[in-house]
Amino acid sequence: MKILVSDPVSAQGIEILQKEFQVDVKTKLSPEELIAIIPEYDALVVRSETKVTKAVIEAAVKLKAIGRAGVGVDNIDVEAATKKGIIVMNAPEGNTIAATEHTIAMMMALTRNIPQAYASMKRGEWQRGKFTGVEVRGKTLGVIGLGRIGTGVAKRAIAMEMKILAYDPFISAERAKALGIELGELDEVFANADFITLHLPLTSETKNLINKTAFDKMKNGVRLVNCARGGVINEADLAAAIEAGKVAGAAIDVFEKEPVDPENPLLKLDKVVVTPHLGASTAEAQVGVAVDVAHGIIAALKGEPVATA
Ligand code: NAD
Ligand code: MLT
Repeated sequence: MKILVSDPVSAQGIEILQKEFQVDVKTKLSPEELIAIIPEYDALVVRSETKVTKAVIEAAVKLKAIGRAGVGVDNIDVEAATKKGIIVMNAPEGNTIAATEHTIAMMMALTRNIPQAYASMKRGEWQRGKFTGVEVRGKTLGVIGLGRIGTGVAKRAIAMEMKILAYDPFISAERAKALGIELGELDEVFANADFITLHLPLTSETKNLINKTAFDKMKNGVRLVNCARGGVINEADLAAAIEAGKVAGAAIDVFEKEPVDPENPLLKLDKVVVTPHLGASTAEAQVGVAVDVAHGIIAALKGEPVATA
């Protein structure tokens, strides 16, 4: 059987696959190129760059499994795959710590103006007054999506003496309480949080969840962190809310369109700290997700039970 790896995936995962099956690594394929070669393959391994559309799935002839070396499967048409009997699996735990730590790093970079101060010093300046920040201690962190990463962020923020107010319709109040977290409705989080961090999947329900209506309900001077998925925030509305002074700043790792359009209004604002989708980019996480997905693909191709995404 043949496996296509169409995004950069850690060598450790590829070596595991190669012990069992033939593996072709072909990255940066255009949609047309992927459609042309997919009939040859029994399994496909992707990160987020490859868009596994309905057209790709329809072109597949013997595809049995699609493995996502990461969490979000929003780049895969899961419904079309499932209808065709193709298993879609992800690697839900390998990058949890990486994304959790990146979120905390982004929140602190935002609150202490670290990227702006760095850029200023590299220009030869010495401006101490310009970059005064705020402390997080005693502030309320609104966590939207209290899954693996949201919980990890909440635990670390509690260690920094922040108060956590979380919204997640699928988490019980008992579980939240056991973690020292208060659960509330979405509007309560909007109304009370000094910082809001997003850790929910991008779905038809969550697309544009953070839009003008949501910003209007937030505290003046709220700061936003998004290391989940770009489409959850309406980027034009966020830029407008920052320009109007409603939002004091944002730290954004993920964008509606990636690679990001250089004309994206968020890139033009000094109060927006950005990274190019680096949440999972640690050595440990890349090995973790690649190894997990490799074992999942092998199990699926051997007809053994696997957990689907
Ligand atoms: P998870 O499945 O463990 O947690 C997601 C949580 O969101 C769940 O608890 C779920 O109940 C909750 N949720 C679903 N719909 C919701 C809604 N409408 N409102 C509020 N909560 C809702 O996933 P995770 O591993 O914690 O990942 C969270 C997000 O981070 C995903 O979007 C994932 O793709 C993204 N992610 C990004 C990076 C990165 O590189 N930036 C890395 C890993 C994960
Ligand atoms: C994920 O959902 O796992 C992340 O976006 C990380 C990645 O794609 O590398």
